Amino acid sequence: MANTIKSSAVTKAVIPAAGLGTRFLPATKAMPKEMLPIVDKPAIQYVVEEAVSAGLDDVLIITGRNKGNLMNHFDGVPELEDTLKHKGDAARLDKVNRVTGLADVHFLRQGRPLGLGHAVACARQHVGRESFAVLLGDDLIDERDPLLDRMIAEHDARGASVIALMEVPKNSIHLYGCAAVETTEDRDVVRVTGLVEKPSAEDAPSSLAVIGRYVLRPEIFDVLDVIEPGRGGEIQLTDALNLLAEGHGDDPVYGVIFRGRRYDTGDRADWIKANVLLAIDHPELGAELEEWILEFAEALGANRGTSLNNNSLLSSFR
Ligand code: UTP
Repeated sequence: MANTIKSSAVTKAVIPAAGLGTRFLPATKAMPKEMLPIVDKPAIQYVVEEAVSAGLDDVLIITGRNKGNLMNHFDGVPELEDTLKHKGDAARLDKVNRVTGLADVHFLRQGRPLGLGHAVACARQHVGRESFAVLLGDDLIDERDPLLDRMIAEHDARGASVIALMEVPKNSIHLYGCAAVETTEDRDVVRVTGLVEKPSAEDAPSSLAVIGRYVLRPEIFDVLDVIEPGRGGEIQLTDALNLLAEGHGDDPVYGVIFRGRRYDTGDRADWIKANVLLAIDHPELGAELEEWILEFAEALGANRGTSLNNNSLLSSFR
């Protein structure tokens, strides 16, 4: 797999992080949702680390208002580094320095949040006429279940744009873009024949949802330039990909079906679950947390169906 990545023409990652994050207000009033911590790192750091692991160390982050937080995270902080050095705290110093040297990170401002498609279109000049990856900054793919390497390999083998798809229950398909597909010789790869943004369960062509990873050929920019605003008045990446998938142009679209762990950190409940799931495996926190969660779950279960409300239960937990 490492050879495939090295020889791929895909070298750049674009991370849109300019959304308003309305589902997470007020936490996201003055801070992008991509800066919300998952255990001890902001979501965006996981996403940049994922890009780097797939061989993409030229990373363009599309920022919106509150961009300062995002930019600061990837900058050096001399006074913090000096203090940690002084204290001889090599472990924490290493964590801080690791972020600064992670990748060649660039920033570009999306003047107004006109939609994901518009955010991607902003990357045109930086990307040029090359294929590139798009990783949504609030969508985490567990590093134990790598996806991007596979998508880049399919892009290279098929000479086509590749999107990531995941099977979801029909009653939650209205939260996603949804793909109409044809099977291929590979059970994990489908040819995408159409895409629809957030359809109702009745109108959904499948239960395959579009998730936040894309490997796109540069022709996408030409389509994004001419499409009209779609759902929610936004320029939708899904609409542009739909035109390609339906055969307008010579650029087919394939989908890689992801069966691993993914966390939508822009959603409050999923963000809490992501913290628990990743903390449980954390070398410093896992053991303590696991014990606490087991005790808590047992007490919560015992409390169910009794007249005691959770308040009296919670007061005994620290
Ligand atoms: P979302 O639809 O999840 O972002 O966009 P949002 O609009 O911020 O979310 P809510 O629904 O209001 O909570 C998916 C990705 O596209 C980025 C977001 O930052 C997120 O990573 N995005 C969206 C942009 O960069 N620009 C936009 O104009 C819209």
